Amino acid sequence: MGYKTIQVKTEGRVGVITLDRPEALNALCDALTTELADALAKFESDGEIGCVVLTGSKKAFAAGADIKELQSQDFVSLYMDDPFEKTWESVARFRKPIIAAVSGYALGGGCEIAMMCDFIIASETAKFGQPEINLGVMPGAGGTQRLPRAISKAKAMDLCLTGRMMDAKEAERAGLVSRIVPADDLLSAAMDAAETIASKSLPIAMMTKEAINRSFELGLSEGVRWERRVFQSQFATEDQSEGMAAFAEKRAAHFKHK
Ligand code: CAA
Repeated sequence: MGYKTIQVKTEGRVGVITLDRPEALNALCDALTTELADALAKFESDGEIGCVVLTGSKKAFAAGADIKELQSQDFVSLYMDDPFEKTWESVARFRKPIIAAVSGYALGGGCEIAMMCDFIIASETAKFGQPEINLGVMPGAGGTQRLPRAISKAKAMDLCLTGRMMDAKEAERAGLVSRIVPADDLLSAAMDAAETIASKSLPIAMMTKEAINRSFELGLSEGVRWERRVFQSQFATEDQSEGMAAFAEKRAAHFKHK
């Protein structure tokens, strides 16, 4: 598939997807989210990829769903076609680690797609918000659900009800972003983190991601019980034997991703 709205490349074991609709501040039109889902499916099935970085431009990670496309939708067309289920959720369903590297605007669907990633590294210029209320709607791709889980109820209510933006510092204080870096260092910081993750055992990294995501679905005792069973199961992997042998032998581990 030749992509028109995203750029895709690989560097070692890291896949990089750059949203690339500068004329619309990377607004998430159908073509873009279809291409994004396609690129993610390819990275998921590529055994050489251990982590993905999703990024945008300096000015915008993504300014939200494409309002000009949404404008002509009605309830039945949106319900029947359900683009959020069909393509957008491919980010949330992606099983390998994925980092959002956010510079500039991450608004509406842009903020929601960033939150579907495992963590967000933000540049000092990043601005987050759920301004859908200004358009006479509310967030529709997880904003009302993922935002209060990522930050406090108070801040989620504040952002979704007023439609205001939050800068990188406020987002880091609130727990939405894991770290802030200078704008010029954003991609290299995200790549460093992605390379580090990709150097670990892929199945173990995937199970770790799955376990943390499970914590949002399960009660504490069920979650801990489930974690323990997965931990025990990891002793059936070659990478557990290698990782612990490497520690005992005072050498670097060479994971085989199995
Ligand atoms: N959809 C479609 N086009 C968009 C867009 C969007 N979400 N955001 C920006 N654009 C377009 C603008 O229409 C403009 O195009 P033209 O030059 O053809 O007019 C171009 O991108 C540049 O935008 P601006 O001129 O507005 O740039 P700015 O620097 O003055 O402002 C901004 C930047 C504050 C981000 C402003 O563009 C803006 O408010 N955008 C909309 C943000 C928004 O409401 N997002 C939520 C969308 S709904 C949603 O996401 C639903 C959901 O939950 C899934």
